[in-house]
Amino acid sequence: MGDNGEKYGDEIFSHGDDGEADPIEKERVDALAEALDPASFATLAAVPVGKDARCLEVGAGTGSVARWLADRFPKGSVTATDLDLDLIEEDERPNLRYLRHDVTSDDFPPSSFDLIHTRFLLPHLPSRDAVLGRMIQWLAPGGWLVLEESALFPFESSPHDCFRRTSLGVLAALGRSFGHDARWARNLPTLIAESGLVEASMSAACPPISAGSAMARFWRLTIEQLWPELLELPELSEDDADTALAQFDDPGFFDLGIATVTVTARRPPAST
Ligand SMILES: C[S@@+](CC[C@H](N)C(=O)[O-])C[C@H]1O[C@@H](n2cnc3c(N)ncnc32)[C@H](O)[C@@H]1O
Repeated sequence: MGDNGEKYGDEIFSHGDDGEADPIEKERVDALAEALDPASFATLAAVPVGKDARCLEVGAGTGSVARWLADRFPKGSVTATDLDLDLIEEDERPNLRYLRHDVTSDDFPPSSFDLIHTRFLLPHLPSRDAVLGRMIQWLAPGGWLVLEESALFPFESSPHDCFRRTSLGVLAALGRSFGHDARWARNLPTLIAESGLVEASMSAACPPISAGSAMARFWRLTIEQLWPELLELPELSEDDADTALAQFDDPGFFDLGIATVTVTARRPPAST
């Protein structure tokens, strides 16, 4: 890992010490994977790459997508990277390697991969545009990029006043703390159109927040970890945060969670 890499949110989302995953952060990222994996697997299953594809999973978190890719491409290989490997659930596959790697500063040779996927990472990184450019360089001619990135627009129009203000407060606090940009993914259609990638397709989905849903667990744990920062925002009070958390246990509460903007596009194949 590069020493000068861009770490984000260390003081908010503790990843634990001495090689031990922080149990709360592990639960939070597990809940995110439970909420998003079914859609990610369906998206990735539709990408037309061969069984011998060389895959890169950037910011692998617990590694659920990396393990799925390794099973999907038994004759291929999967490199799963993260700045911090403590959250990874070790479950070995012969074609899967985990690599401590900072996507903002550590490199791969150009044209190394046939499929590159990342999820809920780039909005966190202040150098997100440059990182997108680096990932495109790592694609082989004809290789596919699949981005699944978070966007705040469902919160802006939520009819639940306290939930809306708390959720937007979370994203404002992340922005203030380490430069998270919760509007960046909404701009992906433009960025991809300008990127030189071709055959792009895009969609957005918002897994629901209701009592007991995986997205509710993820968002509740996110709010709880950010509690001190939320209380510094002038638009939020302790009562607001309490009310917002209580909604996650209310069987009558039902709303859209944070959006996932999914983009699939490929590097032009080499001309023959
Ligand atoms: C919100 S989690 C998402 C995990 C996983 N992609 C998922 O969707 O389940 C973001 C992940 O990105 C990793 N990460 C943060 N900064 C990174 C960087 N500069 N390079 C590589 N990984 C990074 C974090 O350690 C964390 O595991």
